Amino acid sequence: MYGGLASLARELEKEAWSGARYTVLLDENTFTHCLPALVSRVDALQEAEFIEVPVGEECKSLEVAAQVWQTLLEGGADRQAVLVCLGGGAVCDLGGFVAAGYKRGIRHVNVPTTLLAMADAAIGGKTAIDFGGVKNSIGHFYPAVLTVLEPSFLATLPQQELFNGMAEMVKTAAVADGELFRSLTAPDAQFSMQPMLLKRVARIKDSVVKADPYDHGIRKILNFGHTFGHAIEVYRGVPHGVAVALGMRVAMYLSVKKTGLVDEVYNAYSQWLASTLSAFGIPRATFTLKDIEQMLPLMHQDKKCAGGEVRCVLLQELGAAVIDVSVSDNEVRDAMLHL
Ligand SMILES: NC(=O)c1ccc[n+]([C@@H]2O[C@H](COP(=O)([O-])OP(=O)(O)OC[C@H]3O[C@@H](n4cnc5c(N)ncnc54)[C@H](O)[C@@H]3O)[C@@H](O)[C@H]2O)c1
Ligand SMILES: [Zn+2]
Repeated sequence: MYGGLASLARELEKEAWSGARYTVLLDENTFTHCLPALVSRVDALQEAEFIEVPVGEECKSLEVAAQVWQTLLEGGADRQAVLVCLGGGAVCDLGGFVAAGYKRGIRHVNVPTTLLAMADAAIGGKTAIDFGGVKNSIGHFYPAVLTVLEPSFLATLPQQELFNGMAEMVKTAAVADGELFRSLTAPDAQFSMQPMLLKRVARIKDSVVKADPYDHGIRKILNFGHTFGHAIEVYRGVPHGVAVALGMRVAMYLSVKKTGLVDEVYNAYSQWLASTLSAFGIPRATFTLKDIEQMLPLMHQDKKCAGGEVRCVLLQELGAAVIDVSVSDNEVRDAMLHL
């Protein structure tokens, strides 16, 4: 379900939710900026309890999950309990993880409040915490019973967070819907606030996930740009969305060389990237050969790498991705130098 708070309010009046006891999982920012609208516009949540967790990635830990379970137990939450995850991808990832484990599984509702979570993280059933120093190392496939898209929450989101979400939206469009890609990257696009485009992206993610719920095949197309993006993120310490946006440019360059993508798409994307980064005040990144040598091992560590070669998702054309394309180190060097 991708209605906003009004449709959540109607949904929770239905018989299926009678007897439900709601707990809202949130962080300091969503407590301030999003909880007031949630409880005032959704009657069923007026009496909901809430549990606040640390902001950002810090909440995705076993310790925080244990604290949430403890609070639920102490509050007498039974299998009728419903966890409402009100936050970005971090709160939704943690909330799904907690819900999957509590009393062998309780219902959870995702109410994403960042663009990235609305377009990506809150859809698709992947839950996770970080463990042993490894991001998302423990988790389940445990879909939310409802996902609610309320774009008005984006009004208080910092610019950097908007950019992160945009990058993932462009990624999803690139691999699945060329026309949507063009709308998102048009020179006059103000798409962060265009609910219709957001919903189209969310629907694509949903349908890709439904075709491959356990991530064995087609779902890998959603990793477009990520093999290079992850290496850039780790090496340069830039935000995920910036790294993915740069990683997509590398992947597009390689797509032109290897899988027949036309130059125009690469050029248009490069232009969009340059103007969007500058509009957001994000410095452009370039890489020397020395940088690239240090990043190559990170790409080889990537889970998509097999048989000694970097493997990644490339495009044949907009909306048509190929998974598991082997790319030699020299091809990576060439593509990254072009950033
Ligand atoms: N499960 C999946 O399929 C999936 C997919 C992609 C990413 N993720 C995960 O998502 C997480 C990143 O999510 P994110 O980018 O949403 O980051 P986030 O959850 O850390 O939120 C970013 C920041 O925005 C704040 N915030 C949230 N909503 C706000 C609002 N409406 N107004 C003002 N501030 C607000 C948060 O408090 C936080 O400081 C990572 O942990 C990543 O692993 C999961
Ligand atoms: Zn991503």
